[in-house]
Amino acid sequence: MASVKLDNIQKTYPNGFKAIHGVDVDVQDGEFLVLVGPSGCGKSTLLRMIAGLETVTGGELEIGDKVVNDLEPSKRDIAMVFQNYALYPHMTVYNNMAYGLKIMGLSKSEIDERVKNAAGILELTDEQLTRKPRELSGGQRQRVAMGRAIVRKPSVFLFDEPLSNLDAKLRVQMRVEIKRLQESLGITSIYVTHDQVEAMTLGHRLMVLNSGVVEQLGTPIELYERPASLFVAEFIGSPAMNILDTKISEDGESVDIATNIGLALGNGGLPDYAGKKVKLGVRPEHLQLAEGSENSLPLTVTLVEHLGADTLVHGHFGEDETDMTVRRSGTLKTVPGDKLPISITRENIHLFDAETSRRIDL
Ligand SMILES: Nc1ncnc2c1ncn2[C@@H]1O[C@H](COP(=O)(O)OP(=O)(O)O)[C@@H](O)[C@H]1O
Ligand SMILES: [Mg+2]
Repeated sequence: MASVKLDNIQKTYPNGFKAIHGVDVDVQDGEFLVLVGPSGCGKSTLLRMIAGLETVTGGELEIGDKVVNDLEPSKRDIAMVFQNYALYPHMTVYNNMAYGLKIMGLSKSEIDERVKNAAGILELTDEQLTRKPRELSGGQRQRVAMGRAIVRKPSVFLFDEPLSNLDAKLRVQMRVEIKRLQESLGITSIYVTHDQVEAMTLGHRLMVLNSGVVEQLGTPIELYERPASLFVAEFIGSPAMNILDTKISEDGESVDIATNIGLALGNGGLPDYAGKKVKLGVRPEHLQLAEGSENSLPLTVTLVEHLGADTLVHGHFGEDETDMTVRRSGTLKTVPGDKLPISITRENIHLFDAETSRRIDL
């Protein structure tokens, strides 16, 4: 097992495009780190640099306290699982898993033991080991790809969107399996996904990437409770956080959430932001129904989604056309055109600088 250390890692492609702008992270031995961000933000580039499939054009990369910038992939003691599985179609499942071990020069009995052991962990039957990849379902193929990584007993697992090709139900099932597997094997893992739910449920820590820059590095709860930027705030959480354009009052003591409705900030307020525009974020699950409260805002309902366990109510406030989503557990009987009184409480708001988009600490 090993730690992975990235020190100011950068990537400029030969065409001059700078895909990674200096990433720092210490992945602990046994940790599960998830790299998450929208398509094209540089996740695969970063992972492929760790794997040795792309050159590192700046900074220092360490695996297990050894600088590996120029070490070839096969010497890095890593195993990678790809989105398209990259299985050999003409080989049996057994041989797909054994192939890398043969190349490593292991004995037949050692190979057999490792393949059988991995098959056991992944619940692949002896009969399935004799099949060709095309004779397996998508989920089984994914297991074979994982098996091929496990048999190598690497120090580090690298995953690049391994579940993207599976249907929704299977994706959830495999997600749970990967989490269980990583916990039981305790192998340092770096996992790339664009899916924030996958990221939140799998990672001990998440690194949110945006155009090759780290927006935030933290535990799922830290990112949910204290997003460092508007980008993270809108990316993490489903449905996404509601964002209102508002301003801080002239005395800096409150935030104006609507005409004549201010929310006291307390703690001395934000004198530096007095009279300035800010973005106010509040999650759909934190908007409350407030019958009879003075500080409530009337939400004009435009659409209602009944999910069973939850109800999502979409609408907007008064003349302000900003779209808002309210999430209520259980069923809520309301229809488009209704006006629902909604309240926003001080402890549930997030404020962001309108210019820099960074979080404003209260
Ligand atoms: N070989 C390459 N040459 C130039 N630009 C590339 C190359 N590969 C990827 N890129 C660019 O680098 C950026 C990051 O790509 P990638 O790491 O694949 O993103 P992600 O995996 O997050 O979707 C994208 O803008 C992509 O177009
Ligand atoms: Mg990618």
